[in-house]
Amino acid sequence: MAVEKTPRKFFQPLAAGAPAPYRDLPVRVERMIHFVPPHIEKLRARAGDLAREVDVVLGNLEDAVPIEAKEAARAGFIEMARATDFGSAGLWTRINSLNSPWVLDDITQIVGAVGDKLDVIMLPKVEGPWDIHYLDQLLAQLEARHAIGRPILIHAILETAEGVKNVDSIATASPRMHGMSLGPADLAASRAMKTTRVGGGHPEYKVLEDAAGDAPRVSYQQDLWHYTVAKMVDACAAAGIKPFYGPFGDFSDPAACEAQFRNAFLMGCAGAWSLHPSQIAIAKRVFSPDPAEVAFALRILEAMPNGTGAVMIDGKMQDDATWKQAKVMVDLARQVAAKDPDFAAKTGL
Ligand code: GLV
Ligand code: MG
Repeated sequence: MAVEKTPRKFFQPLAAGAPAPYRDLPVRVERMIHFVPPHIEKLRARAGDLAREVDVVLGNLEDAVPIEAKEAARAGFIEMARATDFGSAGLWTRINSLNSPWVLDDITQIVGAVGDKLDVIMLPKVEGPWDIHYLDQLLAQLEARHAIGRPILIHAILETAEGVKNVDSIATASPRMHGMSLGPADLAASRAMKTTRVGGGHPEYKVLEDAAGDAPRVSYQQDLWHYTVAKMVDACAAAGIKPFYGPFGDFSDPAACEAQFRNAFLMGCAGAWSLHPSQIAIAKRVFSPDPAEVAFALRILEAMPNGTGAVMIDGKMQDDATWKQAKVMVDLARQVAAKDPDFAAKTGL
């Protein structure tokens, strides 16, 4: 039987002097989490411009940073965090995994130096709630030591078979949980999936139409990630935290990137990673609701002022449940409009 904290204990700070955990997540539009390699000075220097363009700037310390640049990436992130005004963009870092030789310095040095500016720590290779508990406790101690006034949140990457198995208990491990991202590359390796791609489909993962004489048989590619994204979305929605699609590695195929991001959006995800500047516009487009859908949703809300009953709009039945669907759409649209003048103009919000 799982042993869990009582509800009252769950919301107490884990160290004397640490800020009280959030009961509700801060409401933020996070359509793209843009990855910056902070050991590269030229890219670090552009962080201010980037922050006006993206919803989240993330300094990546983990995979894709070579061993010889690990310390430089950490120092570069601290320098970038100090030097940059991020405006309304979130500031995140992806630290190294908990079993690596760099992670303790990543956490202690970054929280010590710029913990008051840091919104979220992305934790890779999370296997179970024990990984979250470790970081949760350590962050509380460091917040207390450095007099940080608001809790730093944790975002887990779902990228091991064991993590997927434990996804529900990861989602509810701490009030510090912000959300999680699908990590299709590590997850493929962990599961011994036979793909070398980072996200996206595979031409051999398909369903073949039944044979009918000698007629050519149609086949359709299926989505390799459907099961995992669905499982992640349910775990996150039930826990009141946010699910994200992670990376899409084929920068030469923007249409495929858009299709994966859109599936994730339709299924309930809040955003995705942008690893290349060209993916920023894709994520912005995909994770902002379609203005035509928003217009229709507004009509539903208007037709059912108290959210109950049944009405017909353009031949389509609406009731209490579709009112709730419309409210999801309009609430998101209002958040996006408040931050994005182009979107506000398109939707009239
Ligand atoms: C991301 O970290 C991945 O492994 O896909
Ligand atoms: Mg990974």
